[in-house]
Amino acid sequence: MHSTDYYVGAFVALVMLLQVSALETIVGLYGETIEVPCSTGAPVTSDYMFIKWKYDKDDGTAGDLLVKRKEKDEASILASDEYRDRVNISDTSSLLIAHGTLEDQKTFTCMVVTEADVLLYPINVLVHKKPLPPQITEKAKELEDGKLTRLGECVSEGANPVANITWSRNGIPLVADGKMIVITPTVTVDKETGLSTTTSELQYTASKGDVDATFTCSSHHSLAPDQVSAPETFTIHYPTEKVKLQVVSEVPLKEGDNVTLKCKGDGNPPPTSYNFHIKGKKVTVDNSDTYTLIGVTRDSTGEYKCSPVDNDNLVDSKNITVSYLDVSLSPSGTIVRRVGENVAVTVQKNASGEVKITWTKDNTKLEKQPRFDKLKYSDSGNYVCEVSMAGLTQRRSFRLVVEGVPVIKRLDKQRGEDGKHKVLICEAEGSPKPMVLWSVNGTSEESPYVNGKITHKIVMVPTANLTVSCTVSNDLGHDMRVINVSSLFKEEKKMEREDQTDDSNDQAKLIVGIVVGLLLAAAVVGLVYWIYTKKSKQGSWKTGEKETGTSEESKKLEENNHKGEA
Ligand SMILES: *[C@@H]1O[C@H](CO)[C@@H](O)[C@H](O)[C@H]1NC(C)=O
Ligand SMILES: *[C@@H]1O[C@H](CO)[C@@H](O)[C@H](O)[C@H]1NC(C)=O
Ligand SMILES: *[C@@H]1O[C@H](CO)[C@@H](O)[C@H](O)[C@H]1NC(C)=O
Ligand SMILES: *[C@@H]1O[C@H](CO)[C@@H](O)[C@H](O)[C@H]1NC(C)=O
Ligand SMILES: *[C@@H]1O[C@H](CO)[C@@H](O)[C@H](O)[C@H]1NC(C)=O
Ligand SMILES: *[C@@H]1O[C@H](CO)[C@@H](O)[C@H](O)[C@H]1NC(C)=O
Ligand SMILES: *[C@@H]1O[C@H](CO)[C@@H](O)[C@H](O)[C@H]1NC(C)=O
Ligand SMILES: *[C@@H]1O[C@H](CO)[C@@H](O)[C@H](O)[C@H]1NC(C)=O
Repeated sequence: MHSTDYYVGAFVALVMLLQVSALETIVGLYGETIEVPCSTGAPVTSDYMFIKWKYDKDDGTAGDLLVKRKEKDEASILASDEYRDRVNISDTSSLLIAHGTLEDQKTFTCMVVTEADVLLYPINVLVHKKPLPPQITEKAKELEDGKLTRLGECVSEGANPVANITWSRNGIPLVADGKMIVITPTVTVDKETGLSTTTSELQYTASKGDVDATFTCSSHHSLAPDQVSAPETFTIHYPTEKVKLQVVSEVPLKEGDNVTLKCKGDGNPPPTSYNFHIKGKKVTVDNSDTYTLIGVTRDSTGEYKCSPVDNDNLVDSKNITVSYLDVSLSPSGTIVRRVGENVAVTVQKNASGEVKITWTKDNTKLEKQPRFDKLKYSDSGNYVCEVSMAGLTQRRSFRLVVEGVPVIKRLDKQRGEDGKHKVLICEAEGSPKPMVLWSVNGTSEESPYVNGKITHKIVMVPTANLTVSCTVSNDLGHDMRVINVSSLFKEEKKMEREDQTDDSNDQAKLIVGIVVGLLLAAAVVGLVYWIYTKKSKQGSWKTGEKETGTSEESKKLEENNHKGEA
């Protein structure tokens, strides 16, 4: 026994002593040593001769227990019955009874004998025991909503006096009303020990609100604080009052999706089987609450319902919308067209919602839908049109090939960097890729073929004045142009200007010619003037002397003079 229990016991004993004035009573603890004090209140007088303890037998006679003489330290046991090995006396003359039982609830009398008197102190002994902690047994498997059901029994064993039991729900005591809550206590007494076992049966009318409620029972006893059982929860059965139809699949639903419908009743247990109304058709699923529609189409759009198999009045419905997107693109596949032609591009779509269209050409995003009014070589490529709607995307594509007969766009010549070579450039457009042929040999170099354009260069050393041709050709046809190339070494000076144009050289010659002509003309005029002045001097002198110069010249000059005068 714990010291606290002993303390409580002593306290109770004190209370009893104060209350019962006629016959003093003490309470001992079951199983412990019971100390029965001799004279209560005042200590026993020290001038006694001997002290004797005796008790009242069931038949009314008195039984001797022990006697203690003043001069002796030890008491002599008088009892011959079951008390023989259980009794002793303390220093304060209290009777000590080992291993207290309910049999010890008797009146014990302390007899103090002095020389003058015989004093009797009868004391009533009670033996108390607190019960074992209460336990809930005979638990109900489940509780029916609205139905009075035996929830269980609470058992509190081995008490004296009898322990009381109370039931609590979520810590709040339940009060029996005889209708919704019925509590039936019973007490049994153990024949051997005389201890009582209290059993309390609880009948309870559960409701949905009791789903998570905890039930406990407590035992109440004078010797101890209340003892509480382990909490118990119960499965509450209640009927389905509502069903809920859920679309488990991710929305938006689109064509080809598998759509799972789930029907849930709010009862416990929920219905095991359901009817699904799939667009007017009734489908029963047993031992399941789901139904899956495989590969829905736009025609699956509509109202869906479900109800428990045993109650058609409970229904829930959902409208299911399956989105769709049809796309057709014209042209399609690979189309081959001649340069300059036109191609019409059309996208046709049929969708259940707003769509967004994006275009790419060779994986590069285009600003808008392509238009081909007059095809260029650069229009060739892979065109992809992507039409998208929430959750749905469709791609369509075509490959456009622009073809054309090759055409030479430029045929040019340049002086090589070292001044000893000539570089001829032939630039052409056409598709498929044209082949370039020169009429002379040389080191050639070809640019990449991009957007139908190709540039071919040839480096050569002209040994003579040449007329060089460039020929471009593909499956569809050919083109040719020629260029005059003069010999390099003879006209090295001129070469520098040759790049520009040969005509400018001719103009220079002409200018030089004109300047030279003018100079010559000026010289002739000067000579004539000189002769004229000389002849004038001759005429004024009139000598017969011959002038220097030939007579022929003189004659001519004279003739000229006369002509001038005439
Ligand atoms: C009785 O108590 C005394 C001391 O109080 C002790 O010496 C003695 O052994 C006890 N006798 C029995 C039978 O327990
Ligand atoms: C036990 O119940 C009875 C009757 O209801 C009451 O008189 C008594 O005081 C209770 N005892 C305790 C310990 O609660
Ligand atoms: C739909 O279900 C079928 C059959 O269970 C399965 O073969 C198919 O892959 C599912 N489709 C999708 C989109 O999950
Ligand atoms: C489904 O659609 C129909 C017709 O538009 C409408 O009458 C019904 O109330 C809708 N049901 C739900 C659950 O929205
Ligand atoms: C689009 O699709 C719906 C559903 O299949 C169909 O009824 C309608 O005629 C279609 N419209 C066009 C323009 O193709
Ligand atoms: C070009 O070279 C080849 C062989 O190297 C020769 O047969 C051919 O005659 C040459 N053509 C011209 C135009 O010089
Ligand atoms: C090349 O042409 C130039 C005039 O452009 C001429 O003077 C020269 O003689 C020619 N050379 C040859 C080798 O024919
Ligand atoms: C090339 O030279 C020839 C004669 O040598 C001439 O007839 C022709 O016009 C010239 N061609 C060009 C493009 O200058």
